[in-house]
Amino acid sequence: MSAGRFGVPGDRAPLAAGEVVVLRDARGRRSLVTLEDGGTWHSNAGAVPHDGLIGRPEGTAVRTPRGTEVVALRPTREDMVLKMRRGAQVVYPKDQAMIVALGDVRPGMHVAEAGAGSGALTLALLDAVGPEGRVTSVERREDHAEVARANVERFHGGAPARWDLRIGEAADVLAGIAVHRVVLDLPEPRPLLDAVATALAPGGVLVTYLPSIVQVARVTEALRDDGRFADVATTETLVRPWDVDGPAVRPAHRMVAHTAFLTRARRVPRVEDGGPSAPRRRGPVGSDVD
Ligand SMILES: C[S@@+](CC[C@H](N)C(=O)[O-])C[C@H]1O[C@@H](n2cnc3c(N)ncnc32)[C@H](O)[C@@H]1O
Repeated sequence: MSAGRFGVPGDRAPLAAGEVVVLRDARGRRSLVTLEDGGTWHSNAGAVPHDGLIGRPEGTAVRTPRGTEVVALRPTREDMVLKMRRGAQVVYPKDQAMIVALGDVRPGMHVAEAGAGSGALTLALLDAVGPEGRVTSVERREDHAEVARANVERFHGGAPARWDLRIGEAADVLAGIAVHRVVLDLPEPRPLLDAVATALAPGGVLVTYLPSIVQVARVTEALRDDGRFADVATTETLVRPWDVDGPAVRPAHRMVAHTAFLTRARRVPRVEDGGPSAPRRRGPVGSDVD
């Protein structure tokens, strides 16, 4: 993937040399390409000269020598997330949207996320908190942090002032900051709950992203046992694409089905400090407690 500037999709200015465009064909395949004067994009269907796109409006279509039509657009954040370099598995746009919604992430907030991974969720959080907000991202692996930094700086044209990427253990960082929201995308959130409770004031929101329902069951139990979290609820987000083409109107044969479960909890005071009492517990499966 080449370097270049990411413009604002829908800008009225024509495409310019130095800008990144996404080239999409009729089958939905996409490539990120930096336009250069005299440059050429080489695809399986043949070469496309950049000069046919520079100075033209977004949405300009060109044909490869083999007749494949490709359309040039400024990349959306989704294009970036699906095509960017990966160190760790990324959070897909469908889950990013629900993390922002369930986490009630709003402009001006300070949000902490761990781990930063490839920086995909970071891009969504940076947009959600806006220029007045802040995102603190924690990543224990230097190689993953380097990928996250490269992806975020590439999309933003430099390091956003509102972003603080820390290399280290999530528990250590969370224990030393005060934030409105915490998002955890790492395999074992339970040892972090004390630090999360320190980072969040009562009313704050925690969202965990966990691929396995066994992990969800464990973290739910830990959140309920902790005494500083309430309204613990889990959802899964399925987005089903449809083919809409004349009489052939039906769900697409393929979809990204399971990615992960989102568990959301609110920080509350302990019961002895006036917080809610623990929810009534069901017994283990097969017991006569319902
Ligand atoms: C699945 S990746 C996160 C992907 C990221 N949300 C994205 O959208 O690109 C999980 C990351 O958490 C990091 N990690 C795991 N446990 C951690 C901990 N205790 N503290 C900090 N980072 C941790 C891993 O190194 C890994 O990079």
